[in-house]
Amino acid sequence: MAAKQLEVDVIPLTQSFIFKANVGQAIISSINQYLDEILADENTKSHAHKLVGQITRGKQLEISLEEDRIIPLINIIQSLGQNYYEYFYKKTEDTSQPQKTAHVYTMWSVHSYAGDYNPLHDHGNQTLQGLSGSLYAKIPLVIQESSDDLDLSNASGNQNGYLQFVYGDSPVIGPSMFKIPQNMAVKPVVGDLYLWPSWLEHMVYPFDGEGERRSIAFNVSFQKLG
Ligand SMILES: [Fe+2]
Repeated sequence: MAAKQLEVDVIPLTQSFIFKANVGQAIISSINQYLDEILADENTKSHAHKLVGQITRGKQLEISLEEDRIIPLINIIQSLGQNYYEYFYKKTEDTSQPQKTAHVYTMWSVHSYAGDYNPLHDHGNQTLQGLSGSLYAKIPLVIQESSDDLDLSNASGNQNGYLQFVYGDSPVIGPSMFKIPQNMAVKPVVGDLYLWPSWLEHMVYPFDGEGERRSIAFNVSFQKLG
């Protein structure tokens, strides 16, 4: 007698999610025009004292949230933040969802050069539910031309200048013990914007070579309506 075929459900163990979008060249051009200005202005306030980034060759600068060339980006982020909020409650099937609105309350630029890096960190936030993110405005050729293969063996340098998320263990031999590595490396591409929960740890690997790796970072809080 043949064994009865069993129906098997696969129950995934998921923890979180990240939004990715591309803001387009027009937004990036006007942001870069503004960033070129504040980079050249010696009165621009540094944001470095609030950050862990080891940006010694470049700079980390405060961005004005009232700047005309930044407001379109703020609107995009707040709209994505609102979508993230809705998606979260839909995904968790939690019907208690209070009405809240997303607010970008701080933003800064990171101008990195060869050797600069950002160690593993999370972000604080004004509210318990908060998002953080980054947008890429300039990427050196050496990173653009790096292989899409993430393999790090033989000192490949394949993840130089990449953003790395770490949301659990990162065992190299994980698959051999049925453990899925809980990290993800992201190749920075001009115009790409990532939005993630503020508690999610991440880092940026240094790169070697010519050029500026320019990104914008920000925090989004969620305020209750009424
Ligand atoms: Fe960060």
